[in-house]
Amino acid sequence: MKKFIAFLIVVLIGIQFISVEQTNPPVEAEIYAPTEVKAIFKKACYDCHSNETNWVWYTKVAPISFLLTSHVKDSRKHLNFSEWGLYDPKKAEKKIEEIWEEVRDEEMPPWLYRVGHSEAKLTPEEKNTIRNWATSK
Ligand code: HEC
Repeated sequence: MKKFIAFLIVVLIGIQFISVEQTNPPVEAEIYAPTEVKAIFKKACYDCHSNETNWVWYTKVAPISFLLTSHVKDSRKHLNFSEWGLYDPKKAEKKIEEIWEEVRDEEMPPWLYRVGHSEAKLTPEEKNTIRNWATSK
């Protein structure tokens, strides 16, 4: 058992030297939305769906870092508020629809993220704000 724990510690230290690329590319075409809507996106979605991820300390600790880095990459591919302006109007319209659906069904932000980020749990008022924005488009 002692040997196994020693082995585990060596592995855990060792993997810290595997570098992962945690990027925040320049924000060139950020979404244009009313201040109160954008404020909600910023606090509840931007860590994953923008180029302004807050890479806090635990996102840099392996093996969590491997997971979170690919998670953010994947999230940005699906939806990126920092590159919204590059979407053609049809795609943007579809994304707006999806945003409301995800928020309405409490699929987004993911529950695990909400555990660590209580501010990301949207209040009924905040959901209303998103709905009004999404359905007025
Ligand atoms: C912890 C990371 C994380 C946060 C925070 C987060 N998302 Fe996501 N989101 C993902 C991932 C990963 C996917 C793609 C996989 C999936 O659909 O589960 C996704 C998918 C989506 C999709 C589907 C897009 C598509 O093309 O299929 C929408 C819409 C979305 N998120 C909206 C939001 C909104 C709105 C917020 C904030 C209220 C938010 N997300 C917060 C990780 C996140």
